[in-house]
Amino acid sequence: MARINDNYLKLSAGYLFPEIGRRVRSFQQAHPEARIIRLGIGDVVLPLPASICDAMSAAVDELRTEAGFRGYGPEQGYDFLRSAIAEHDFASRGVAVDVDEIFVSDGSKCDSGNVQELFACDARVAIPDPVYPVYLDTNVMAGRSGSAGGDGRYAGIVYLPCTAQSGFLPSPPRERVDLVYLCFPNNPTGAVARRDDLARWVAYAHEYDAVLLFDAAYEAFITESDIPHSIYELDGARDVALEFRSYSKTAGFTGTRCAYMVVPRAVTGVATDGSRVDLHRLWTRRHTTKFNGVSYPVQRAAAASYSPQGQIEVRANIDYYMRNAALIRQSLATLGLEVHGGINAPYVWVRTPEGLGSWEFFDALLTRAHVVGTPGAGFGSCGEGYFRLSAFGRRENVEEALERIRRAFG
Ligand code: MLT
Repeated sequence: MARINDNYLKLSAGYLFPEIGRRVRSFQQAHPEARIIRLGIGDVVLPLPASICDAMSAAVDELRTEAGFRGYGPEQGYDFLRSAIAEHDFASRGVAVDVDEIFVSDGSKCDSGNVQELFACDARVAIPDPVYPVYLDTNVMAGRSGSAGGDGRYAGIVYLPCTAQSGFLPSPPRERVDLVYLCFPNNPTGAVARRDDLARWVAYAHEYDAVLLFDAAYEAFITESDIPHSIYELDGARDVALEFRSYSKTAGFTGTRCAYMVVPRAVTGVATDGSRVDLHRLWTRRHTTKFNGVSYPVQRAAAASYSPQGQIEVRANIDYYMRNAALIRQSLATLGLEVHGGINAPYVWVRTPEGLGSWEFFDALLTRAHVVGTPGAGFGSCGEGYFRLSAFGRRENVEEALERIRRAFG
C-alpha cells in the first residue's frame, strides 16, 4: 500500500493561478464573443530582447559542432554566468558575493519552494500575509503546519500581517521563529522595504538565530534610488539570509526559465546534535542530487542580459511595463480607488470598490469589463478586500482594460 503524504490534503484549494485560469476558461466558454484582457498572473508579453535571442542561437550553433557540443553542465551553473551575476548584480552595488555562492536554477518558484527541504520538519515558519502562495504551500506540503481554519490560515504557521496601516510591510514577530520569508519589491502588494525595514529583519535573525529567505525576483523594477536591491546591502545579512533572483520578469524568461539563488557560506543551521552546519554544504548536496543544471543556450541567453546591448534592451522592456504600472495607478486613482504599489514593482494593489470581496470583484471585473486580475484573498486573509493588477501587458490592452474598468466602475 502506497501511503500518501497526508499534508497535501491540508492544502485548502488548488494553486491560485490555475484556479483563476479555470474560472476564466469557464467564463470564456459561456461567452465566446468576449475579448478577455488578462492582467492576472504576472507573465511577460514582450518578445525576448534581440541580443538575448542572438546569444541563445549562437549557443545552439555551438552545440551543433563537435568542438562546441556539451553534455551535462555543472549543476550549479556555468562559470561565465555565475561570474557575470557576481559582478553585475552584486559587486556593482558594492556587495561581495562569491561565484561559488551562486546556484543557477530553472526558477525562483522552484528555489523558494525547494529551499525548505534544508530545514527540520518542526522548524517554525513566519510568512507575511498576503504572500506569494509558494512559500506557504510548500511548507504545508512538508508538514510544518496543522490544518487550515475557517479563515484559510494554517495552525502552526506564524503569520505576519501586512496592512495598509503598516504600508504593507511585515514586522518581526515578538516570538522566536526559525525561518522568515520576505519578498521585496513585494508580490502581490508592490510594497518596498527601505534600509531601516530590512535592518530590523537582519537584527531579528541575528537575535533569534533565524534564517531569512529573501525573494528579490522583482528588484529590477525598483525606480527609487535609496531602496536596497539585495538583502546583502545590509550589514550582517550575509550571515543570516539566502536570496532568490530570477530572469523571468527582468529579462522576459517566464517561458525560457532561468534564475539563481545565493547561499552565502556563512549562513548556518543547527543539527540535532547541536553542531552548526553551513547551508551552502546542504544546498550543494541537494542541488547536485536533484538537479542537472539549466541548459547551455539558456545560460548563454541569461548572461547576454548583462552585455551592454542586453542591458539597454532589458531596461527598455522593464520601462515599458513600469509605464503600464503608472497608467494603471493613475487611471484607478482617478476613479477614486485606493491604489498601492506600481512604483517600484510591476504590481498594483487596489482596494476593491463597492464593498466587494476580492473574489466578488474578480467576478464583477470579468463579467462587466472582461478583464482578469488576481483576487487579493488568494494571497492570504489580509488580502481580502484587495485586488492585484499586473503591469505585464501590451500597452494597447492595458489602455483598453482601464477604459473598460472606467466604464464599468466609474
Ligand atoms: C505572479 O503572478 O504572482 C507570478 O507570475 C507568479 C510566479 O512568478 O510564479
